[in-house]
Amino acid sequence: MFLPIEVQVLVAMDPIAREMPIAVFDSGVGGLTVLHECLVTLPHEDFVYLGDTARFPYGNHTADELRKFALELTQELVALGTKLIVIACNSATAAALPTLRENLGDRIGVVGVVWPEARLAAEVTRSGRIALVATPATVARRVYERALEEVAPAAKLLSVESSDLATLIQEREEFDEDVVDAVERACEPLREAGVDTVILGCTHYPLVRRIFQRCLGRGVEIVSSGQAISQAVEHELEIRGLKSNSENRGKYSFICTGDPEFFRRAGTRFLQLPLGEVRQHQVIAEDCR
Ligand code: DGL
Repeated sequence: MFLPIEVQVLVAMDPIAREMPIAVFDSGVGGLTVLHECLVTLPHEDFVYLGDTARFPYGNHTADELRKFALELTQELVALGTKLIVIACNSATAAALPTLRENLGDRIGVVGVVWPEARLAAEVTRSGRIALVATPATVARRVYERALEEVAPAAKLLSVESSDLATLIQEREEFDEDVVDAVERACEPLREAGVDTVILGCTHYPLVRRIFQRCLGRGVEIVSSGQAISQAVEHELEIRGLKSNSENRGKYSFICTGDPEFFRRAGTRFLQLPLGEVRQHQVIAEDCR
């Protein structure tokens, strides 16, 4: 049973140590695009990745539900032992980042997408006309508007939601016309508005970056979560004095809440590396759709 959010306090059992893994979670396999960038930027770190595939897609859940899921997954990751939590999901970051930070206090850092990506978009835009394509949950929270107000107050943001693109990307082994149509639909208002920078505000979308680029043309810069967040993760480890001392290549392991075989197959496509064994973590069925 879930505790009500107000009384659910996350407790870290072990002292935090630089040898511990970094924990990454997402609604499914999309966050593996973030993990991949982290593996490249931080080759000596160990990672544990938790994909909530049983309750995917997060994009169609309410903010309260997403906070509840994020707290539950974080509780599991903290119990396993971790030095830093990475929310590799825009929908979960938009709903739950402050709640997780409040619950974990100073003890374990939490890094989310959104702010790193907004900063990157602010750096690359020339005209200040930026667009966001994301899930309904992310667009509704207006987090990119708030982030851009901080880092580029003169910029104008056009937000476009797609309720089916993440699911199509995750579930279709081969990209077909449905995927292309969903990208085309999202790009139409962006082309009309003449934006010069597009934020892919969902960690699933980098898999169809090339389809976006073809729809938008070469003159448009595309920014995604992974490239932005891996630097933020490195920075957080540095300021906390928690960078690994190891000189060996780091290890990674996987947990999912749905079918491990589906996760392994789809995940290999997203990570572009072999996943090995995937362990299952049970969540309450009534929360699954
Ligand atoms: N990966 C999630 C995100 O970045 C989107 C997919 C979903 O709807 O669960 O928002």
